[in-house]
Amino acid sequence: EQPTPLSPTGAPSADPPTASAQQGAYLTTATGVRLHDTDHSLKVGARGPTVLADHHLREKIMHFDHERIPERVVHARGAGAHGVFVANGAATSVSRAAVFGKDVETPVFVRFSTVLGSRGSADTVRDTRGFAVKFYSSEGNWDLVGNNIPVFFIQDGIKFPDVIHAGKPHPDREIPQAQSAHDTFWDFVSLHTEGQHHAMWNMSDRGLPRSYRMMEGFGVHTFRLVDAEGGTTLCKFHWKPRLGVHSLTWEEAQLAAGVDPDFHRRDLHDAIESGAYPVWDLGIQTFADTPDQTFEGIDLLDPTKLVPEELAPVQLIGTMTLTGNPTNYFAETEQVAFHTGHLVPGIDGTDDPLLMARNFSYLDTQLTRLAGPNFNQIPINRPHAPVNDMHRDGYHQSAVHGGVAPYKPNTLDGGCPFFAGMDEGAFVDVPVQVPAASKVRANPASYDDHYSQTRQFYRSMTPVEQEHIVLAYTFELGKCYEQAVKERQLQCLANIDADLCAQVATGLGLPAPAASVEVPDVELSPALSQLPGEWPPD
Ligand code: HEM
Repeated sequence: EQPTPLSPTGAPSADPPTASAQQGAYLTTATGVRLHDTDHSLKVGARGPTVLADHHLREKIMHFDHERIPERVVHARGAGAHGVFVANGAATSVSRAAVFGKDVETPVFVRFSTVLGSRGSADTVRDTRGFAVKFYSSEGNWDLVGNNIPVFFIQDGIKFPDVIHAGKPHPDREIPQAQSAHDTFWDFVSLHTEGQHHAMWNMSDRGLPRSYRMMEGFGVHTFRLVDAEGGTTLCKFHWKPRLGVHSLTWEEAQLAAGVDPDFHRRDLHDAIESGAYPVWDLGIQTFADTPDQTFEGIDLLDPTKLVPEELAPVQLIGTMTLTGNPTNYFAETEQVAFHTGHLVPGIDGTDDPLLMARNFSYLDTQLTRLAGPNFNQIPINRPHAPVNDMHRDGYHQSAVHGGVAPYKPNTLDGGCPFFAGMDEGAFVDVPVQVPAASKVRANPASYDDHYSQTRQFYRSMTPVEQEHIVLAYTFELGKCYEQAVKERQLQCLANIDADLCAQVATGLGLPAPAASVEVPDVELSPALSQLPGEWPPD
Protein backbone atom coordinates (compact mmCIF):
# COMPACT_ATOMS: atom_id res chain seq x y z
CA GLU A 1 0.00 0.00 0.00
CA GLN A 2 1.31 3.46 -0.93
CA PRO A 3 1.76 5.88 1.96
CA THR A 4 -0.45 8.96 1.72
CA PRO A 5 1.71 11.51 -0.08
CA LEU A 6 2.31 14.65 1.87
CA SER A 7 2.54 18.11 0.40
CA PRO A 8 5.17 20.36 1.92
CA THR A 9 2.62 21.61 4.43
CA GLY A 10 1.26 18.19 5.23
CA ALA A 11 -2.11 19.15 3.73
CA PRO A 12 -3.65 17.01 0.96
CA SER A 13 -1.35 18.02 -1.84
CA ALA A 14 -3.63 17.79 -4.87
CA ASP A 15 -5.32 21.00 -3.75
CA PRO A 16 -4.10 24.20 -5.37
CA PRO A 17 -2.03 26.24 -2.93
CA THR A 18 -3.91 28.80 -0.91
CA ALA A 19 -2.38 31.13 1.60
CA SER A 20 -4.43 33.29 3.88
CA ALA A 21 -1.70 35.11 5.70
CA GLN A 22 -3.88 37.71 7.40
CA GLN A 23 -6.85 36.67 9.48
CA GLY A 24 -9.12 38.12 12.14
CA ALA A 25 -10.62 41.52 12.74
CA TYR A 26 -7.85 42.88 14.97
CA LEU A 27 -4.30 43.99 14.44
CA THR A 28 -1.85 41.68 16.22
CA THR A 29 1.86 41.16 16.70
CA ALA A 30 3.52 38.48 14.56
CA THR A 31 2.84 36.07 17.40
CA GLY A 32 -0.87 36.81 17.46
CA VAL A 33 -1.16 39.11 20.47
CA ARG A 34 -3.82 41.77 19.95
CA LEU A 35 -2.48 45.33 19.78
CA HIS A 36 -4.14 48.46 20.96
CA ASP A 37 -1.79 51.00 19.32
CA THR A 38 0.63 50.75 16.41
CA ASP A 39 1.18 54.48 15.82
CA HIS A 40 3.12 55.47 18.91
CA SER A 41 6.29 53.95 20.28
CA LEU A 42 6.57 53.38 24.01
CA LYS A 43 8.33 56.42 25.52
CA VAL A 44 9.29 57.80 28.90
CA GLY A 45 6.75 60.60 28.86
CA ALA A 46 5.35 61.97 25.62
CA ARG A 47 8.62 63.81 24.78
CA GLY A 48 11.09 61.38 26.36
CA PRO A 49 13.32 58.59 24.94
CA THR A 50 11.87 55.41 23.48
CA VAL A 51 12.33 52.35 25.69
CA LEU A 52 14.15 49.23 24.55
CA ALA A 53 11.35 47.17 26.03
CA ASP A 54 8.99 48.22 23.21
CA HIS A 55 8.92 44.82 21.53
CA HIS A 56 6.17 45.81 19.08
CA LEU A 57 8.29 48.68 17.75
CA ARG A 58 11.36 46.47 17.40
CA GLU A 59 9.47 43.63 15.72
CA LYS A 60 7.66 45.95 13.30
CA ILE A 61 10.85 47.73 12.22
CA MET A 62 12.94 44.55 12.14
CA HIS A 63 10.49 42.96 9.71
CA PHE A 64 10.29 46.02 7.51
CA ASP A 65 14.09 46.24 7.41
CA HIS A 66 14.17 42.75 5.88
CA GLU A 67 11.37 43.07 3.33
CA ARG A 68 13.72 43.02 0.34
CA ILE A 69 15.19 39.92 -1.26
CA PRO A 70 17.81 40.04 -4.01
CA GLU A 71 16.37 40.76 -7.42
CA ARG A 72 16.99 38.15 -10.10
CA VAL A 73 20.53 38.36 -11.46
CA VAL A 74 18.93 38.60 -14.93
CA HIS A 75 15.27 39.08 -15.90
CA ALA A 76 14.79 41.15 -12.72
CA ARG A 77 11.83 43.10 -14.04
CA GLY A 78 8.75 41.08 -14.85
CA ALA A 79 4.99 40.76 -14.82
CA GLY A 80 3.05 37.59 -14.12
CA ALA A 81 -0.37 36.10 -14.76
CA HIS A 82 -2.33 32.93 -14.08
CA GLY A 83 -4.07 30.94 -16.76
CA VAL A 84 -4.84 27.58 -18.24
CA PHE A 85 -3.35 25.45 -20.99
CA VAL A 86 -5.68 23.18 -22.92
CA ALA A 87 -4.08 20.56 -25.18
CA ASN A 88 -5.68 19.57 -28.48
CA GLY A 89 -4.18 16.08 -28.36
CA ALA A 90 -1.98 16.51 -31.45
CA ALA A 91 1.22 15.91 -29.50
CA THR A 92 0.14 12.57 -28.01
CA SER A 93 1.71 10.73 -30.95
CA VAL A 94 5.14 12.09 -30.05
CA SER A 95 4.96 12.61 -26.28
CA ARG A 96 3.41 10.66 -23.44
CA ALA A 97 3.22 13.80 -21.24
CA ALA A 98 -0.20 14.02 -19.57
CA VAL A 99 -0.19 17.77 -20.22
CA PHE A 100 -0.54 17.03 -23.97
CA GLY A 101 -3.56 14.70 -23.62
CA LYS A 102 -6.59 15.75 -25.66
CA ASP A 103 -8.67 18.36 -23.81
CA VAL A 104 -6.52 18.07 -20.69
CA GLU A 105 -6.60 21.39 -18.83
CA THR A 106 -3.49 22.38 -16.91
CA PRO A 107 -3.20 25.49 -14.72
CA VAL A 108 -0.24 27.71 -15.60
CA PHE A 109 1.62 30.71 -14.21
CA VAL A 110 3.47 32.89 -16.71
CA ARG A 111 6.15 35.50 -16.08
CA PHE A 112 7.17 37.91 -18.83
CA SER A 113 10.31 39.96 -18.27
CA THR A 114 13.02 42.13 -19.69
CA VAL A 115 16.54 40.71 -19.33
CA LEU A 116 19.01 43.41 -18.47
CA GLY A 117 17.21 46.12 -16.51
CA SER A 118 16.89 46.16 -12.75
CA ARG A 119 13.58 45.55 -10.99
CA GLY A 120 12.58 49.21 -11.26
CA SER A 121 13.59 49.78 -14.88
CA ALA A 122 11.27 50.74 -17.74
CA ASP A 123 9.29 48.17 -19.70
CA THR A 124 9.70 49.43 -23.26
CA VAL A 125 13.49 49.37 -23.63
CA ARG A 126 15.16 47.57 -26.52
CA ASP A 127 15.91 44.14 -25.07
CA THR A 128 15.02 40.46 -25.28
CA ARG A 129 11.86 39.51 -23.34
CA GLY A 130 11.56 36.45 -21.12
CA PHE A 131 8.53 34.20 -21.62
CA ALA A 132 8.52 31.65 -18.78
CA VAL A 133 5.59 29.27 -18.26
CA LYS A 134 5.07 26.95 -15.30
CA PHE A 135 2.60 24.14 -16.06
CA TYR A 136 1.16 22.66 -12.84
CA SER A 137 0.54 19.29 -14.49
CA SER A 138 -0.92 16.18 -12.88
CA GLU A 139 2.56 14.62 -13.24
CA GLY A 140 4.39 17.47 -11.54
CA ASN A 141 5.61 20.87 -12.68
CA TRP A 142 6.90 21.44 -16.21
CA ASP A 143 8.62 24.78 -16.82
CA LEU A 144 9.09 26.07 -20.36
CA VAL A 145 11.55 28.90 -19.72
CA GLY A 146 11.81 30.72 -23.02
CA ASN A 147 12.31 34.09 -24.64
CA ASN A 148 10.57 36.12 -27.35
CA ILE A 149 13.59 35.60 -29.62
CA PRO A 150 14.25 32.10 -31.01
CA VAL A 151 18.05 32.17 -30.75
CA PHE A 152 20.53 33.02 -28.01
CA PHE A 153 23.77 35.03 -27.79
CA ILE A 154 26.10 32.19 -26.92
CA GLN A 155 26.54 28.54 -27.79
CA ASP A 156 27.93 27.39 -24.45
CA GLY A 157 26.58 28.35 -21.02
CA ILE A 158 30.10 28.83 -19.67
CA LYS A 159 29.98 32.24 -21.40
CA PHE A 160 26.73 33.30 -19.70
CA PRO A 161 28.41 35.32 -16.93
CA ASP A 162 30.47 37.02 -19.65
CA VAL A 163 27.61 38.00 -21.95
CA ILE A 164 25.58 39.27 -18.99
CA HIS A 165 28.54 41.23 -17.60
CA ALA A 166 28.82 42.80 -21.06
CA GLY A 167 25.10 43.60 -21.27
CA LYS A 168 24.55 44.94 -17.75
CA PRO A 169 25.50 48.56 -16.93
CA HIS A 170 29.19 49.43 -16.99
CA PRO A 171 30.75 48.62 -13.60
CA ASP A 172 32.20 52.10 -13.19
CA ARG A 173 29.31 54.40 -14.18
CA GLU A 174 26.40 51.97 -13.87
CA ILE A 175 25.07 53.27 -17.20
CA PRO A 176 23.18 52.59 -19.31
CA GLN A 177 20.66 51.05 -16.96
CA ALA A 178 18.37 49.04 -19.13
CA GLN A 179 19.42 48.49 -22.70
CA SER A 180 22.30 47.21 -24.80
CA ALA A 181 25.17 48.52 -22.73
CA HIS A 182 26.89 50.07 -25.70
CA ASP A 183 30.67 49.72 -25.45
CA THR A 184 30.74 46.49 -23.49
CA PHE A 185 27.77 44.95 -25.31
CA TRP A 186 29.17 45.66 -28.77
CA ASP A 187 32.66 44.73 -27.65
CA PHE A 188 31.31 41.32 -26.63
CA VAL A 189 29.21 40.50 -29.69
CA SER A 190 31.85 41.73 -32.12
CA LEU A 191 34.44 39.49 -30.44
CA HIS A 192 32.08 36.54 -29.79
CA THR A 193 30.47 36.70 -33.21
CA GLU A 194 28.07 33.85 -32.46
CA GLY A 195 26.09 36.65 -30.72
CA GLN A 196 25.46 38.52 -34.00
CA HIS A 197 22.28 36.63 -34.82
CA HIS A 198 20.58 37.37 -31.48
CA ALA A 199 21.85 40.98 -31.63
CA MET A 200 20.24 41.38 -35.07
CA TRP A 201 16.87 40.24 -33.66
CA ASN A 202 17.34 42.77 -30.83
CA MET A 203 18.03 45.55 -33.34
CA SER A 204 14.91 44.59 -35.28
CA ASP A 205 11.38 45.53 -34.22
CA ARG A 206 11.31 42.28 -32.20
CA GLY A 207 13.41 44.13 -29.60
CA LEU A 208 10.50 46.51 -28.96
CA PRO A 209 7.35 44.43 -28.40
CA ARG A 210 4.14 46.43 -28.41
CA SER A 211 2.63 44.30 -25.67
CA TYR A 212 3.45 41.09 -23.85
CA ARG A 213 0.18 39.88 -25.39
CA MET A 214 1.63 40.35 -28.87
CA MET A 215 4.90 38.46 -28.49
CA GLU A 216 5.88 35.07 -29.78
CA GLY A 217 7.65 32.81 -27.31
CA PHE A 218 10.35 30.25 -28.05
CA GLY A 219 11.83 27.42 -26.01
CA VAL A 220 15.02 28.17 -28.03
CA HIS A 221 16.77 24.87 -27.33
CA THR A 222 15.90 21.61 -29.01
CA PHE A 223 14.08 19.31 -26.60
CA ARG A 224 13.46 15.56 -26.80
CA LEU A 225 9.91 14.22 -26.65
CA VAL A 226 9.33 10.64 -25.55
CA ASP A 227 6.23 8.71 -26.61
CA ALA A 228 4.38 5.92 -24.78
CA GLU A 229 6.64 3.24 -26.33
CA GLY A 230 9.85 5.09 -25.50
CA GLY A 231 10.33 6.41 -29.04
CA THR A 232 11.94 9.83 -29.25
CA THR A 233 11.46 12.93 -31.41
CA LEU A 234 13.42 16.17 -31.25
CA CYS A 235 11.37 19.36 -31.05
CA LYS A 236 11.39 23.12 -30.69
CA PHE A 237 8.56 24.88 -28.83
CA HIS A 238 6.82 28.00 -30.14
CA TRP A 239 4.13 30.21 -28.60
CA LYS A 240 2.01 32.05 -31.21
CA PRO A 241 -0.05 35.01 -29.94
CA ARG A 242 -3.62 35.12 -31.23
CA LEU A 243 -3.30 38.92 -31.40
CA GLY A 244 -0.42 38.57 -33.86
CA VAL A 245 3.13 39.91 -33.44
CA HIS A 246 3.32 43.69 -33.09
CA SER A 247 6.03 46.11 -32.09
CA LEU A 248 6.36 49.66 -30.88
CA THR A 249 8.17 52.13 -33.07
CA TRP A 250 11.37 53.45 -31.53
CA GLU A 251 9.71 56.81 -30.88
CA GLU A 252 6.71 55.20 -29.18
CA ALA A 253 9.02 53.12 -27.01
CA GLN A 254 10.96 56.21 -25.91
CA LEU A 255 7.80 58.13 -25.09
CA ALA A 256 6.25 55.23 -23.20
CA ALA A 257 9.41 54.76 -21.14
CA GLY A 258 9.03 58.36 -20.04
CA VAL A 259 5.32 58.76 -19.51
CA ASP A 260 4.57 55.22 -18.38
CA PRO A 261 7.55 53.04 -17.46
CA ASP A 262 5.01 50.32 -16.49
CA PHE A 263 3.55 50.24 -19.99
CA HIS A 264 3.72 46.47 -20.55
CA ARG A 265 2.91 45.55 -16.99
CA ARG A 266 -0.14 47.81 -17.02
CA ASP A 267 -1.28 46.53 -20.42
CA LEU A 268 -1.17 42.90 -19.26
CA HIS A 269 -2.95 43.63 -16.00
CA ASP A 270 -5.64 45.83 -17.56
CA ALA A 271 -6.35 43.38 -20.38
CA ILE A 272 -6.92 40.53 -17.92
CA GLU A 273 -8.86 42.72 -15.53
CA SER A 274 -11.23 43.78 -18.31
CA GLY A 275 -11.75 40.21 -19.54
CA ALA A 276 -9.72 40.60 -22.75
CA TYR A 277 -7.80 37.44 -21.95
CA PRO A 278 -4.54 37.02 -23.89
CA VAL A 279 -4.31 33.76 -25.83
CA TRP A 280 -1.38 31.88 -27.34
CA ASP A 281 -1.26 28.66 -29.30
CA LEU A 282 1.57 26.33 -28.38
CA GLY A 283 3.23 24.65 -31.34
CA ILE A 284 6.13 22.34 -32.02
CA GLN A 285 8.55 21.86 -34.87
CA THR A 286 9.52 18.20 -34.88
CA PHE A 287 12.67 16.52 -36.17
CA ALA A 288 13.76 12.90 -36.40
CA ASP A 289 16.05 12.01 -33.48
CA THR A 290 19.02 11.04 -35.66
CA PRO A 291 22.50 10.44 -34.19
CA ASP A 292 23.84 13.69 -35.71
CA GLN A 293 20.90 15.74 -34.29
CA THR A 294 20.91 17.88 -37.42
CA PHE A 295 18.05 18.97 -39.67
CA GLU A 296 18.63 20.16 -43.26
CA GLY A 297 22.22 20.99 -42.34
CA ILE A 298 21.21 22.94 -39.22
CA ASP A 299 22.80 21.68 -36.00
CA LEU A 300 19.86 21.31 -33.62
CA LEU A 301 22.13 21.58 -30.58
CA ASP A 302 23.35 25.05 -31.59
CA PRO A 303 21.11 27.61 -29.79
CA THR A 304 22.28 30.44 -32.07
CA LYS A 305 20.45 28.81 -35.00
CA LEU A 306 16.74 28.50 -35.70
CA VAL A 307 14.96 26.19 -38.09
CA PRO A 308 12.93 28.26 -40.59
CA GLU A 309 9.24 27.48 -40.38
CA GLU A 310 9.18 26.90 -44.14
CA LEU A 311 11.45 23.91 -43.60
CA ALA A 312 9.70 22.58 -40.50
CA PRO A 313 6.18 23.94 -40.02
CA VAL A 314 4.95 24.66 -36.52
CA GLN A 315 2.24 22.17 -35.57
CA LEU A 316 -0.23 23.43 -32.98
CA ILE A 317 -0.66 21.25 -29.90
CA GLY A 318 -2.71 23.39 -27.51
CA THR A 319 -3.82 26.81 -26.36
CA MET A 320 -2.95 28.94 -23.34
CA THR A 321 -5.32 31.60 -22.02
CA LEU A 322 -4.30 34.01 -19.27
CA THR A 323 -7.29 34.66 -17.05
CA GLY A 324 -6.07 35.93 -13.70
CA ASN A 325 -3.82 38.63 -12.30
CA PRO A 326 -1.61 37.86 -9.30
CA THR A 327 -3.11 38.79 -5.95
CA ASN A 328 0.28 39.67 -4.51
CA TYR A 329 3.25 40.63 -6.68
CA PHE A 330 5.89 39.49 -4.22
CA ALA A 331 4.29 36.15 -3.35
CA GLU A 332 3.70 35.18 -6.94
CA THR A 333 5.66 37.11 -9.57
CA GLU A 334 8.74 37.68 -7.44
CA GLN A 335 8.92 34.33 -5.68
CA VAL A 336 8.17 32.11 -8.63
CA ALA A 337 11.16 29.92 -9.45
CA PHE A 338 11.39 28.57 -13.00
CA HIS A 339 13.88 25.90 -13.97
CA THR A 340 14.77 24.28 -17.28
CA GLY A 341 15.26 21.02 -15.39
CA HIS A 342 11.61 20.95 -14.29
CA LEU A 343 10.53 18.36 -16.86
CA VAL A 344 7.77 15.75 -16.79
CA PRO A 345 7.64 12.22 -18.22
CA GLY A 346 7.49 12.58 -22.02
CA ILE A 347 9.56 15.79 -22.24
CA ASP A 348 13.33 15.64 -21.90
CA GLY A 349 16.34 17.84 -22.65
CA THR A 350 19.19 17.44 -25.11
CA ASP A 351 22.96 17.90 -24.88
CA ASP A 352 22.82 21.55 -25.99
CA PRO A 353 25.67 22.97 -23.86
CA LEU A 354 23.67 26.11 -23.16
CA LEU A 355 20.77 24.11 -21.78
CA MET A 356 23.09 22.04 -19.61
CA ALA A 357 24.52 25.16 -17.96
CA ARG A 358 21.02 26.52 -17.44
CA ASN A 359 20.04 23.34 -15.65
CA PHE A 360 22.80 24.07 -13.15
CA SER A 361 22.31 27.82 -12.99
CA TYR A 362 18.65 28.26 -12.04
CA LEU A 363 18.82 25.99 -9.01
CA ASP A 364 22.01 27.59 -7.89
CA THR A 365 20.75 31.17 -8.12
CA GLN A 366 17.41 30.36 -6.48
CA LEU A 367 19.25 28.94 -3.46
CA THR A 368 20.48 32.46 -2.80
CA ARG A 369 17.56 34.48 -4.16
CA LEU A 370 14.95 32.56 -2.22
CA ALA A 371 17.22 31.91 0.78
CA GLY A 372 17.68 28.19 1.08
CA PRO A 373 16.63 24.89 -0.44
CA ASN A 374 12.91 24.89 0.42
CA PHE A 375 11.64 27.35 -2.21
CA ASN A 376 9.45 24.70 -3.81
CA GLN A 377 7.27 24.95 -0.71
CA ILE A 378 6.43 28.59 -1.53
CA PRO A 379 2.79 28.52 -2.66
CA ILE A 380 3.43 29.71 -6.23
CA ASN A 381 6.05 26.99 -6.76
CA ARG A 382 4.14 24.08 -5.22
CA PRO A 383 3.18 21.36 -7.64
CA HIS A 384 -0.48 20.46 -7.94
CA ALA A 385 0.62 16.81 -7.91
CA PRO A 386 1.40 14.85 -4.76
CA VAL A 387 4.90 15.52 -3.39
CA ASN A 388 6.65 12.69 -1.58
CA ASP A 389 10.31 13.61 -1.65
CA MET A 390 12.88 12.65 0.92
CA HIS A 391 13.98 16.24 1.43
CA ARG A 392 14.04 17.28 5.05
CA ASP A 393 14.73 20.30 7.22
CA GLY A 394 16.76 23.31 6.02
CA TYR A 395 16.12 27.04 6.07
CA HIS A 396 12.44 28.01 5.77
CA GLN A 397 11.19 24.47 6.17
CA SER A 398 7.45 24.82 6.67
CA ALA A 399 6.37 21.18 6.43
CA VAL A 400 5.97 18.94 9.47
CA HIS A 401 7.09 15.62 8.06
CA GLY A 402 5.87 12.45 9.65
CA GLY A 403 7.60 9.08 9.87
CA VAL A 404 11.06 8.08 10.97
CA ALA A 405 12.70 6.87 7.77
CA PRO A 406 13.27 9.60 5.19
CA TYR A 407 14.83 7.22 2.69
CA LYS A 408 13.47 4.65 0.24
CA PRO A 409 13.04 1.76 0.38
CA ASN A 410 12.57 1.35 4.10
CA THR A 411 10.83 -1.16 6.31
CA LEU A 412 9.80 1.25 9.06
CA ASP A 413 7.34 3.72 7.49
CA GLY A 414 4.72 1.40 5.99
CA GLY A 415 6.89 -1.16 4.24
CA CYS A 416 8.67 -0.95 0.87
CA PRO A 417 6.01 0.10 -1.62
CA PHE A 418 8.55 1.60 -3.98
CA PHE A 419 9.83 -1.73 -5.26
CA ALA A 420 6.68 -2.69 -7.13
CA GLY A 421 5.52 -0.76 -10.19
CA MET A 422 8.03 1.98 -9.51
CA ASP A 423 8.43 2.94 -13.16
CA GLU A 424 4.77 3.34 -13.93
CA GLY A 425 4.14 7.02 -14.62
CA ALA A 426 7.70 7.87 -13.57
CA PHE A 427 10.23 10.03 -15.38
CA VAL A 428 12.45 7.36 -16.90
CA ASP A 429 15.67 8.60 -18.48
CA VAL A 430 15.87 7.83 -22.18
CA PRO A 431 18.91 5.69 -22.98
CA VAL A 432 20.38 8.10 -25.57
CA GLN A 433 23.63 6.94 -27.18
CA VAL A 434 26.57 9.26 -26.52
CA PRO A 435 29.48 8.93 -28.97
CA ALA A 436 32.74 7.78 -27.40
CA ALA A 437 35.08 10.78 -27.48
CA SER A 438 37.87 12.46 -25.57
CA LYS A 439 37.09 15.24 -23.11
CA VAL A 440 37.78 18.56 -24.82
CA ARG A 441 36.97 22.23 -24.31
CA ALA A 442 35.78 22.84 -27.87
CA ASN A 443 32.79 23.41 -30.13
CA PRO A 444 31.83 21.21 -33.08
CA ALA A 445 32.76 22.68 -36.47
CA SER A 446 29.03 23.14 -37.23
CA TYR A 447 29.00 25.97 -34.66
CA ASP A 448 31.44 28.05 -36.72
CA ASP A 449 28.98 29.74 -39.10
CA HIS A 450 27.83 32.86 -37.25
CA TYR A 451 26.57 34.90 -40.14
CA SER A 452 24.42 33.03 -42.65
CA GLN A 453 21.23 32.97 -40.57
CA THR A 454 21.88 36.56 -39.46
CA ARG A 455 22.01 37.55 -43.12
CA GLN A 456 18.93 35.45 -43.85
CA PHE A 457 17.01 37.26 -41.12
CA TYR A 458 18.01 40.73 -42.36
CA ARG A 459 17.26 39.97 -46.00
CA SER A 460 13.88 38.47 -45.14
CA MET A 461 12.70 41.77 -43.66
CA THR A 462 10.52 44.26 -45.55
CA PRO A 463 12.15 47.59 -46.53
CA VAL A 464 10.59 49.47 -43.61
CA GLU A 465 11.74 46.78 -41.16
CA GLN A 466 15.24 46.96 -42.63
CA GLU A 467 15.18 50.73 -42.20
CA HIS A 468 14.33 50.26 -38.51
CA ILE A 469 17.25 47.84 -38.16
CA VAL A 470 19.66 50.33 -39.76
CA LEU A 471 18.44 53.10 -37.44
CA ALA A 472 18.74 50.85 -34.39
CA TYR A 473 22.35 49.84 -35.12
CA THR A 474 23.22 53.46 -35.88
CA PHE A 475 21.68 54.73 -32.64
CA GLU A 476 23.12 52.03 -30.39
CA LEU A 477 26.61 52.05 -31.92
CA GLY A 478 26.49 55.85 -31.92
CA LYS A 479 26.49 55.66 -28.11
CA CYS A 480 29.82 53.80 -28.02
CA TYR A 481 32.81 55.80 -26.79
CA GLU A 482 35.39 53.44 -28.29
CA GLN A 483 36.12 53.85 -32.00
CA ALA A 484 37.65 50.36 -32.17
CA VAL A 485 34.43 48.78 -30.94
CA LYS A 486 32.34 50.57 -33.56
CA GLU A 487 34.79 49.54 -36.29
CA ARG A 488 34.80 45.89 -35.19
CA GLN A 489 31.00 45.78 -35.19
CA LEU A 490 30.93 47.39 -38.65
CA GLN A 491 33.20 44.57 -39.78
CA CYS A 492 30.61 42.08 -38.54
CA LEU A 493 27.86 43.97 -40.39
CA ALA A 494 29.98 43.84 -43.56
CA ASN A 495 30.05 40.06 -43.21
CA ILE A 496 26.26 40.01 -42.82
CA ASP A 497 25.20 42.41 -45.58
CA ALA A 498 27.23 45.04 -47.43
CA ASP A 499 24.31 47.41 -47.85
CA LEU A 500 23.35 47.26 -44.15
CA CYS A 501 26.98 47.93 -43.25
CA ALA A 502 27.24 50.87 -45.65
CA GLN A 503 24.12 52.56 -44.27
CA VAL A 504 25.17 52.16 -40.64
CA ALA A 505 28.73 53.30 -41.45
CA THR A 506 27.33 56.42 -43.11
CA GLY A 507 25.21 57.12 -40.04
CA LEU A 508 28.27 56.78 -37.82
CA GLY A 509 30.48 58.84 -40.15
CA LEU A 510 32.92 55.95 -40.59
CA PRO A 511 34.18 54.08 -43.65
CA ALA A 512 32.41 50.80 -44.47
CA PRO A 513 34.82 47.85 -44.47
CA ALA A 514 34.68 44.95 -46.96
CA ALA A 515 33.58 41.50 -45.80
CA SER A 516 36.35 39.58 -44.04
CA VAL A 517 34.86 36.08 -44.14
CA GLU A 518 33.02 34.01 -46.71
CA VAL A 519 29.47 33.47 -45.60
CA PRO A 520 27.49 30.64 -47.15
CA ASP A 521 24.30 32.06 -48.65
CA VAL A 522 21.20 30.23 -47.48
CA GLU A 523 17.88 30.42 -49.25
CA LEU A 524 15.82 33.45 -48.39
CA SER A 525 12.68 32.91 -46.33
CA PRO A 526 9.77 35.33 -46.32
CA ALA A 527 9.68 37.58 -43.25
CA LEU A 528 9.08 35.31 -40.27
CA SER A 529 6.61 37.82 -38.91
CA GLN A 530 4.65 37.82 -42.15
CA LEU A 531 3.82 34.30 -43.22
CA PRO A 532 1.01 35.08 -45.68
CA GLY A 533 -2.41 33.80 -44.81
CA GLU A 534 -1.23 31.44 -42.11
CA TRP A 535 -1.49 33.57 -39.02
CA PRO A 536 -3.60 34.10 -36.96
CA PRO A 537 -5.28 30.75 -37.68
CA ASP A 538 -8.89 32.02 -37.72
C1 HEM B 1 16.21 33.86 -15.67
C2 HEM B 1 15.35 32.61 -20.24
C3 HEM B 1 19.96 31.33 -20.84
C4 HEM B 1 20.61 31.97 -16.15
C5 HEM B 1 15.58 33.64 -16.86
C6 HEM B 1 14.22 33.95 -17.14
C7 HEM B 1 13.97 33.59 -18.41
C8 HEM B 1 15.18 33.06 -18.96
C9 HEM B 1 12.66 33.70 -19.13
C10 HEM B 1 13.26 34.62 -16.19
C11 HEM B 1 12.55 33.61 -15.38
C12 HEM B 1 11.55 34.27 -14.49
O1 HEM B 1 10.65 34.94 -15.04
O2 HEM B 1 11.65 34.13 -13.27
C13 HEM B 1 16.53 32.17 -20.78
C14 HEM B 1 16.68 31.67 -22.13
C15 HEM B 1 17.99 31.32 -22.31
C16 HEM B 1 18.65 31.60 -21.06
C17 HEM B 1 15.56 31.53 -23.12
C18 HEM B 1 18.69 30.75 -23.48
C19 HEM B 1 18.11 30.06 -24.40
C20 HEM B 1 20.50 31.31 -19.61
C21 HEM B 1 21.79 30.77 -19.31
C22 HEM B 1 21.97 30.93 -17.98
C23 HEM B 1 20.79 31.59 -17.45
C24 HEM B 1 22.75 30.14 -20.31
C25 HEM B 1 23.15 30.55 -17.14
C26 HEM B 1 24.08 29.69 -17.46
C27 HEM B 1 19.50 32.58 -15.64
C28 HEM B 1 19.36 32.99 -14.27
C29 HEM B 1 18.09 33.54 -14.12
C30 HEM B 1 17.47 33.44 -15.41
C31 HEM B 1 20.43 32.85 -13.18
C32 HEM B 1 17.45 34.09 -12.86
C33 HEM B 1 16.58 33.01 -12.29
C34 HEM B 1 16.01 33.35 -10.93
O3 HEM B 1 16.58 34.14 -10.21
O4 HEM B 1 14.96 32.75 -10.60
N1 HEM B 1 16.17 33.09 -18.00
N2 HEM B 1 17.74 32.12 -20.16
N3 HEM B 1 19.92 31.78 -18.45
N4 HEM B 1 18.35 32.87 -16.32
FE1 HEM B 1 18.01 32.42 -18.21
